[in-house]
Amino acid sequence: MKNLLKTQDLKAYYRLVDGTDIRAVDGVTLDLRPNEVLGIAGESGCGKSTLASVMSLTHNPPLRVIDGDVTANGSNLLTMPTEQVRQKIKGRYISIVPQGAMNALNPTQRVRNFAIDMLREHFPEMKKDEAIDLAAARIDELGLPRRVLNNYPHELSGGMKQRTTIVLSTLLDPKILIADEPTSALDVSSQKSVISLLLALLKDEIITSIAFITHELPLLRQIATRIAIMYAGKLVELGTMEEIIFEPLHPYTEALMSTMLVPERHVREQRIQSIAGVPPDLKAPPKGCRFHPRCPKRLPVCSTEEPPAKEVGDRTVWCWLMQ
Ligand SMILES: Nc1ncnc2c1ncn2[C@@H]1O[C@H](COP(=O)(O)OP(=O)(O)O)[C@@H](O)[C@H]1O
Ligand code: SF4
Ligand SMILES: [Mg+2]
Repeated sequence: MKNLLKTQDLKAYYRLVDGTDIRAVDGVTLDLRPNEVLGIAGESGCGKSTLASVMSLTHNPPLRVIDGDVTANGSNLLTMPTEQVRQKIKGRYISIVPQGAMNALNPTQRVRNFAIDMLREHFPEMKKDEAIDLAAARIDELGLPRRVLNNYPHELSGGMKQRTTIVLSTLLDPKILIADEPTSALDVSSQKSVISLLLALLKDEIITSIAFITHELPLLRQIATRIAIMYAGKLVELGTMEEIIFEPLHPYTEALMSTMLVPERHVREQRIQSIAGVPPDLKAPPKGCRFHPRCPKRLPVCSTEEPPAKEVGDRTVWCWLMQ
């Protein structure tokens, strides 16, 4: 199937000063297709943000790509000259709203300066007024109040700050938006407004596809087309939203989804923590299936051999139970 972006056997490790590696992304093959919202979910520390940073080519040392490819339209983005990536890919083909981006806005600058910087990076000749006009037109189109451009970040509510960050990050009409936990730390109504904005960006054809990273599982039901579940640096299951939420096959997906119908966030988080144990230390992940120390269904083979990918209908599951 056609894809906009694909990682193939991608391995990205943080190399520490003592020479050890944190194997945060350890062999991930994942495609992002046109007109979809690909949800990426899993407990904290499983490598979601690391994957997002490599997919958006915003990774920096100590994170290094050890192996694998990130391709778009048949080109390997990891070997593309830096200048070409800056001019053609970042912000134009792929834009990322990193985790915590709304709190990273410069507190001493009005929001409009973010738009000016973003546009001038790509169009150095652009005048400030022109940049502000372009940002204002987009803000109008998406129904945000124009005043936000004149505000300082602290003058905006969390939800408004996040929506503004998203709008300004997509001013150059990238095909792909990678949104890393854009709803965390927001109340339910602000979460809804962020989801509505993301859907409006798709509907208005400003962007073509979204990779939406979250540990707020109920939101996936509202927005995702497909879902990838990540555990300890690897994918464990990839399928349609309905398959993953209502008929999970992998024991980890099953455990995650069993927490989902609980409305209160803190209870959900407690339940996730109650999947006995915690994700492993990625300096020395367990042999075999990385979930085996916590898995209630493990088989003898699980602690020695890594489960291969198994296609089950249209989905992919990495579990010995499926072999
Ligand atoms: N800058 C860093 N240096 C070293 N290790 C890091 C760094 N950032 C993240 N890690 C480690 O990489 C692993 C994956 O982290 P991350 O990608 O942030 O997971 P997630 O987004 O799923 O919570 C974790 O073990 C985390 O501690
Ligand atoms: S491979 Fe084995 S340990 Fe891993 S999830 Fe499947 S049954 Fe559990
Ligand atoms: Mg993260």
